[in-house]
Amino acid sequence: MTAQDAASALGSAFAGLETADAPPGAALYRGKVRDVLSRGDRAVLVASDRISAFDRVLSTVPWKGEILSRISSWWFRQTDDLVPNHLLPASATGGRDATAVTGRAVAALRCDMIPAEVVVRGYLTGSAWRDYRAGKPIAGLSPSVKLPSGLRYCERFPAPLLTPSTKEAEGHDRPATGEELVASGHVDAELWREIERAALALFRRGQELAASRGLILVDTKYEFGIAGGRLVVADEIHTPDSSRYWYADGYDARLSAGEHQRELDKETFRRWLVDRGFSGDGEPPKIDDAVRVETALRYADTYRAILGEPFEPVFRDARAAGVAIASLAREVLGD
Ligand SMILES: Nc1ncnc2c1ncn2[C@@H]1O[C@H](COP(=O)(O)OP(=O)(O)OP(=O)(O)O)[C@@H](O)[C@H]1O
Ligand SMILES: [Mg+2]
Repeated sequence: MTAQDAASALGSAFAGLETADAPPGAALYRGKVRDVLSRGDRAVLVASDRISAFDRVLSTVPWKGEILSRISSWWFRQTDDLVPNHLLPASATGGRDATAVTGRAVAALRCDMIPAEVVVRGYLTGSAWRDYRAGKPIAGLSPSVKLPSGLRYCERFPAPLLTPSTKEAEGHDRPATGEELVASGHVDAELWREIERAALALFRRGQELAASRGLILVDTKYEFGIAGGRLVVADEIHTPDSSRYWYADGYDARLSAGEHQRELDKETFRRWLVDRGFSGDGEPPKIDDAVRVETALRYADTYRAILGEPFEPVFRDARAAGVAIASLAREVLGD
């Protein structure tokens, strides 16, 4: 995908599933980024091209949803020996892979979602760095974990940390330690132990595979659910929306110099907003075409960096994607 491709696709980005493409018997939930169709014990998650920052949907970025779906499906396949995930087997969709056919939809088990965002951090950066530098406990970190003093900006933790938060239906999520999630009844104690184990195993695999591509998986967020009585990892995994990646090359030199690391994620868009004085409150700036194109190219770079091959869209036209998704939804959810 070139800048020219992205520029000419600005007008036909996939803003969301058309209501007419939903089978009549299915429920439609619109998240900030994905539209979720469900019926009975099955769901079809459709990643749109909407982009959110500071919990607000602000624009669309061509092929962002397709890139995210394909990255996530790739990671689910790379980790399904470790932790069961919400993807339906290809046999449920006529032997074809739902994401390969539609570009941006996945056929999944409908889960009862656990109302927690399970954040795992491998390195001292972001909000954890801000807390640590200020001498405060890292938000969400269990008080039973003692961190060494004198860690540097972007330094690797002795072992990955879990810093969960609640997942709220309304309003902002708030940091909550595992102990707090259990005490407040967000999750059962036994189940939380299972979630911790699963999250750390997924993260370790993620770091290993990322390293084989010259990348560092810095931190990420998992969502888990219960389907058919068992724990599965749901939502999306190790995508640039849910994760931070750095380039491994030059990491040590930048660490020693106290510099920012070279990042591979949607910070491009956030930074653009912050540079214009927007960090969530008040009126957002008008999102111009240049930043939408630039962000699309960054997402395509991420795809290439993680999967090791250039991104080529399955559909160049949002309407054609809609037709393929509607047909998949009927197959998975019934008419
Ligand atoms: N297998 C699944 N079964 C049911 N729900 C799922 C499944 N996987 C993900 N979800 C939910 O689908 C939604 C995906 O939409 P999206 O990521 O756009 O929402 P969000 O912006 O993160 O949050 P919100 O739900 O607050 O809008 C999330 O609410 C997520 O928890
Ligand atoms: Mg989400």
